[in-house]
Amino acid sequence: MIERVKTAMKELIKSYAARLEPQLYAAVGEKDGLTKTIYEAAGYSLKAGGKRLRPVLMLMFAELLGLAEQDVMPFACALEMIHTYSLIHDDLPAMDNDDLRRGKPTNHKVFGEAMAILAGDALLNMAAETVSAARCSIPAGRVLAAVHELFSASGTKGMIGGQVIDIESEGRAVSLETLQKLQLLKTGALIRAAGRVPAVLAAADEQQLEAITQYCENLGMAFQIRDDLLDVYGSTEELGKRIGSDEANQKTTYVSLCGMEKSEQLVEEYTGKAVASLDIFGDKAAQLKELAVYLTNRRS
Ligand code: IPE
Ligand code: IPE
Ligand code: MG
Ligand code: MG
Ligand code: MG
Repeated sequence: MIERVKTAMKELIKSYAARLEPQLYAAVGEKDGLTKTIYEAAGYSLKAGGKRLRPVLMLMFAELLGLAEQDVMPFACALEMIHTYSLIHDDLPAMDNDDLRRGKPTNHKVFGEAMAILAGDALLNMAAETVSAARCSIPAGRVLAAVHELFSASGTKGMIGGQVIDIESEGRAVSLETLQKLQLLKTGALIRAAGRVPAVLAAADEQQLEAITQYCENLGMAFQIRDDLLDVYGSTEELGKRIGSDEANQKTTYVSLCGMEKSEQLVEEYTGKAVASLDIFGDKAAQLKELAVYLTNRRS
C-alpha cells in the first residue's frame, strides 16, 4: 500500500475516533460518591486508547448506507464498551493472564482482580444503557432489532462463545475447522456487528446485508490471524501488549497450526475476499476496501 493512502487512512480513522471519544467517555464521567472507583476502573481501560476499529467501521458503514452519524453513535459507543470489557476480562489471570494492554498495565494490575471483573461487567451494562437510551429518528422496531444484533454478537453465540472455545482449546490440539469457528466467534462476531448493526438500522436489503456480513467475517478472520502473527513477531512498543502470550498459554492459533508463511497467505486471502464482497456498492465502498487492505499490514 502506498504511503499516501496509509496516511490518509490513519487520518480518516483519527477523525472518526475524535467524534466518537467524547460520547464514549460521557458514560464514565461520574466522579463523586462511594462508587467512584468503578468509573475510574472502567474509564481507565476505555480511555487507554486502542485502534477504535469496531466503532469506526460501524460509522463508516453508517455513512455508506446513508444513516445520520448521530443515530448510530450510541451503537458505536456500545460496541467499543463491549470490546473493552472483553479485553479486561481476557487479560485476567484466570484467562490469558496478561499485564500490559493498550500500552498500560492491565486493569487488574491497577485496580485488582475484583474491581477489574466489575469494570468489565460495568462496561457491558453501560453498553445496554447507552443503546436503550438512544433517541433517534429511526423506527423503534429497527432500533430493537439492532440492539438484538449487537447483544447476540457479544453473547454465547458470538464473542463469549468464541472465548469459551479458546479457553477449552488451551493445551489441546484442535482442528482447523474448530479454530476457524473459534476465530469467527471470538473476534469475528463483534466486527460482524460493526457492519450488521447499521445495516439493520438502515433496513438494508438481503443482498447488501450479505455483502456486509461477508466483508466483516473475512476482515475478522484476517484481523485475528494478523493478531496471532503479531503475537509472535510484533513489538510490545507498537502493539501496547506483550508478545508471546499465545505460546505461554498453549493456545492453538493459525500460526501454531499452519505456520507463519501460510498464515501470512491467509491474511491476504481473507482480505481479498473482504474487499471483493463490497463490489456491489461501487465507489461508495472505496474507503472500506482501503481500510481492509490497510489493516493487512498493521503493526499494532
Ligand atoms: C484485540 O483487539 C483483541 C482481538 C480481537 C484481536 P484490537 O487489536 O482491536 O485491540 P484495541 O482495541 O486496538 O486495543
Ligand atoms: C481475544 O483474543 C479476543 C477477545 C474476545 C477479547 P486474544 O486473546 O488473542 O486477544 P489479545 O491478543 O489478548 O488482544
Ligand atoms: Mg484470549
Ligand atoms: Mg489475550
Ligand atoms: Mg492475541
